[in-house]
Amino acid sequence: MLKYVSDNIKNLVPYSPGKPIEELERDLGIKGSIKLASNENPLGPSKKAIEAVDRHLNRINRYPDGGGYYLKDAISKKWGVSHDAVILGNGSNEIIELLVRTFMSPGDHAVTSDNSFSVYHLIVRAANGNITMVPMQDGHYDLKKIRESITSRTRMVFIANPNNPTGTIVTTADVRDFMNSVPEDVLVVFDEAYAEYVTSPEYPDDMSYLRAGHNVAILRTFSKIYGLAGLRIGYGLTKIEITNMVNRVRQPFNTNSLAQVAALAALDDTSHVENSRRINKEGKEFLYKEFDSIGIKYLPTEANFIYFQTGKDGREIFDAMLKEGVIIRYMGGQNLRVTIGLPEENRRFISALRKVLNR
Ligand SMILES: Cc1ncc(COP(=O)(O)O)c(C=O)c1O
Repeated sequence: MLKYVSDNIKNLVPYSPGKPIEELERDLGIKGSIKLASNENPLGPSKKAIEAVDRHLNRINRYPDGGGYYLKDAISKKWGVSHDAVILGNGSNEIIELLVRTFMSPGDHAVTSDNSFSVYHLIVRAANGNITMVPMQDGHYDLKKIRESITSRTRMVFIANPNNPTGTIVTTADVRDFMNSVPEDVLVVFDEAYAEYVTSPEYPDDMSYLRAGHNVAILRTFSKIYGLAGLRIGYGLTKIEITNMVNRVRQPFNTNSLAQVAALAALDDTSHVENSRRINKEGKEFLYKEFDSIGIKYLPTEANFIYFQTGKDGREIFDAMLKEGVIIRYMGGQNLRVTIGLPEENRRFISALRKVLNR
């Protein structure tokens, strides 16, 4: 049987998620660990979302609303688009997959940046497509080089903005130049999983390209600021012609009913979003100050995580931090990523880091 698996799939390395707390504690026989590894909301979910799930629990014998009517309605009102411009997904990951399955045939090509969200290349390669990952420039997407990498086989470009793991953004001016030159029949996917955390005035309004009729898809998720990562729900906004095609490959009940009601309630809970943004901004400032005082290099972030280097092998630091009960993320070479947590978690992370580095 295995001889039928394509080389593209054989050569994939499965996505490796942040280590769960339970696994670390089981492995090391320790208690009271903290996880700052998967860019989750440390405040937890909105209370309104929890109540909505509670209210809905006795109805989980029923299939969900396959069209996600109420959630789509709220999303379409929030963005001023029609229902048919909204695609719901089992996490925004699923929307990436749906777009690739809809638009890419074996041998087709996609472009993204190096040091970006690994799911893009995993999904493209799993569909027997090819992907170019253009080197970054100073920790930023290089949209000029990405433009130059587009060929006649290119169907999609993925732009994570802010980017995971660097936390950097492409600006309004970068995107304007790029969109002015990108071929019309290439779908530009703006993955805005962390958009709610951005404070830079140079962050682009990608919706304006959708309104102007460009072939773009904008992805958002309820996994990050809305605190619903465990329920798996995200959405995409794109042209109606595109959602029509995507609906042909989408499973009938791809988003579950608890996720739909929780997302609907979370969308409405603006004070939870505001608190989450505030905690993140304060945590970011605290961590910058501490990093500066320890002498750690980092990239200023527009998201809820920070990409940093200690000057030592990243894997060793990662392992030593695990022994201190602090789970962060190893990103290759000297690179590490930490999710901004609650104030006490940030303090715990810093004191463990000082101990591990002896600084
Ligand atoms: C850039 C980016 N896009 C998309 C996702 C996927 O989010 P989800 O599938 O949970 O919506 C993540 C998750 O880490 C991410 O970092």
